[in-house]
Amino acid sequence: MTAAVIPQHIAIVMDGNGRWAKRRFLPRLAGHKQGVDALRRCAKACAERGVKVLTVFAFSSENWNRPTDEVDGLMNLLAGALAKEVPSLARDGIRLFFVGDRASLSTKVQAGLAQAEAATAHNDRMVLNVCFNYGGRWDIAQAAAKLVAAGQPITEVALNGAMALAHVPDPDLLIRTGGEMRISNFLLWQSAYSELYFSDKWWPDFDEQALDAAIAEFQQRERRFGKTSEQLAPSAA
Ligand code: IPE
Ligand code: IPE
Ligand code: MG
Repeated sequence: MTAAVIPQHIAIVMDGNGRWAKRRFLPRLAGHKQGVDALRRCAKACAERGVKVLTVFAFSSENWNRPTDEVDGLMNLLAGALAKEVPSLARDGIRLFFVGDRASLSTKVQAGLAQAEAATAHNDRMVLNVCFNYGGRWDIAQAAAKLVAAGQPITEVALNGAMALAHVPDPDLLIRTGGEMRISNFLLWQSAYSELYFSDKWWPDFDEQALDAAIAEFQQRERRFGKTSEQLAPSAA
């Protein structure tokens, strides 16, 4: 039997913070705070399992449409988490990247993002991409705009190289917690051949055991990339 393959790149739509809080009669922001703890735990667990890239959806292009106090709370949470999390990321050998449209974030948050990236730039055990003010459609459009500005033809290879996640391979496994079965404008381009896994757990409850269940399910899948099963089978010895 071949050794079970650990997905090299896991992407996660961290959904369900609000419902986690509501169930406890807490404000939604309490759920988001708990979500930061869940992310720290999950990133550590992924690094321990040999995952090379973890990409998480923290704030979508559409999340600006939420009530102002929730948006403000999420921005403050991010700004606060940035400085606080760097030491634990360093301990776990995790390099941080922020992926998304930074232009509409406050200068304070923008500076915090750049600082946290610089402070973890030497870590090489695992990459953690935090998608913040990110949308799959924004990503495809900004990649196309970059090519146009450079006078380059829009080909599949060129677009791929201009996407916001060009520094990592495509996700092998895409997990969504919180029970919804949709992509919600996450990695539209990069998830073309990702294995999809939906968990009913709210994000704050997504623990190591839940991660292992997702990885175990991934290991049962046959990734064909358009080929037939027979083509994938190792030739008879
Ligand atoms: C996901 O949790 C986190 C963000 C979108 C920022 P939600 O806030 O969407 O939680 P639910 O879906 O309302 O439970
Ligand atoms: C997706 O969750 C975005 C993030 C987890 C950051 P949403 O809660 O915003 O998605 P919808 O609105 O249910 O599709
Ligand atoms: Mg949600």
